[in-house]
Amino acid sequence: MELKEFKTDTIIEPFRIRSVEPIRFTTMEQRKELLKKAGYNPFLLKAKDVLIDLLTDSGTGAMSSQQWSGMISSDESYAGSESFYRFEKAVQDITGFKHVIPTHQGRAAENILFTTIAKKGDVIPSNTHFDTTRAHVEHNGAEALDLVIDEGRQPLTIHPFKGNMNVEKLEATIGRVGSEKIPAIMLTLTNNSGGGRPVSMENVKAVSDVARKFDIPFFIDACRFAENSWFIKTREDGYEDKSPIEIAREIFSYADGCTMSAKKDGMANIGGFLALNDDQLAQDCRSLTILTEGFPTYGGMAGYDMEAVAAGLYEALDEGYLKYRIRSTAYLGDKLIDAGISIVQPTGGHAVYIDAKEMLPQIDPLDYPAWSLTNALYLIGGVRAVEIGTVMFGLQPDGSEKPAAMELVRLAIPRRVYTQSHIDYLAEVVIHAFEQREQLKGYEIDSAPKVLRHFSARLKPL
Ligand code: F0G
Repeated sequence: MELKEFKTDTIIEPFRIRSVEPIRFTTMEQRKELLKKAGYNPFLLKAKDVLIDLLTDSGTGAMSSQQWSGMISSDESYAGSESFYRFEKAVQDITGFKHVIPTHQGRAAENILFTTIAKKGDVIPSNTHFDTTRAHVEHNGAEALDLVIDEGRQPLTIHPFKGNMNVEKLEATIGRVGSEKIPAIMLTLTNNSGGGRPVSMENVKAVSDVARKFDIPFFIDACRFAENSWFIKTREDGYEDKSPIEIAREIFSYADGCTMSAKKDGMANIGGFLALNDDQLAQDCRSLTILTEGFPTYGGMAGYDMEAVAAGLYEALDEGYLKYRIRSTAYLGDKLIDAGISIVQPTGGHAVYIDAKEMLPQIDPLDYPAWSLTNALYLIGGVRAVEIGTVMFGLQPDGSEKPAAMELVRLAIPRRVYTQSHIDYLAEVVIHAFEQREQLKGYEIDSAPKVLRHFSARLKPL
């Protein structure tokens, strides 16, 4: 008997589960009380009261047995530990950058970079700055300018690389303010605040060309560089036969440095780094690292954290993993689209972004429609998502408020944590909210801090 070769389109999780963590069910009555106590801010809920936690994909992933074994055999020496050298080697191998400065997470790398290079009156263009990046730029008195292509602000337009920067606008900005006022150009890969959209290699190259032409340093916010590499492989001509690591190396080869949160595509629960080529800048950054993070061979991480990142960076670039990762996010996106729900399309790598402006036209942007939907998902099904809208971005440096460009609810998928049935349940919760969308009402802010207010603001339903 001759058996036919087995072919399937089913993409299975490329791992099996050896350690499990119980999740807790609550009733809707309990959730109403819990949310009220949390000031109607999901950030202030206790994690134990959440059933499916999609607040972020940052530091929430499951580590592999290889990462854990590295952690057990780490070197915790204060200076020059073996764990640092393994970490440095992995970062250099993938990014090609000469200097590697470990930090406790991504924003610490941003703090060190921008405190060193940015000052009042400067402008830092990006496709879209992530909220912590923007906050660090502004904290140093500089302007954080978002120059994403127009398609990047249109949730329903289909474009393979909606994270691309508008290179004409970049050149116009340099012409307007002068290159001496631009200490760096940034590109966020993938463009998280713009909906997790990738940036094409062509665009990375074009931005790099402009940066070189005007002698401006070019830095990549590399948090999701592996996912971005996968999108280039599957969507950009000429890259289909390249491996993700080859693509990643090419991306970094066009830049002068990067900031990285290893809590994303470093597959770790904590950690990050600043990597760069310039010797003088590296020296200045290391001096500040000692002040704010720690000695430059651990910079805020334990030896075991550096071991987890050294292994995790390669695991994030594994083809089988990336195929599963991107497919499982698209699976959720497809279910919501089939139910008639507007999401940012095409579906991104780490999250599905629901367009709350489209779903809830009855709620004024200054009454926070995306916030309202986020709270509804918790009340209905114990799901914790995050608002990427006016509460997150609406507060201006002068204290005034204006509506954000988009009102999105992000369902961020932690890496290697939830199975297909969790995602099926989640889709049911979102669809249930959608069916009752006319019932949803806006919110107002009761109290909020002046920066990054979404993390700790307390709100009230209108
Ligand atoms: N840049 C991007 C694009 C990010 O998404 C994040 C974090 C950071 C920088 C800062 O890194 O958290 O390690 O300090 N994003 C998380 C999120 C918080 O939920 O998207 P960090």
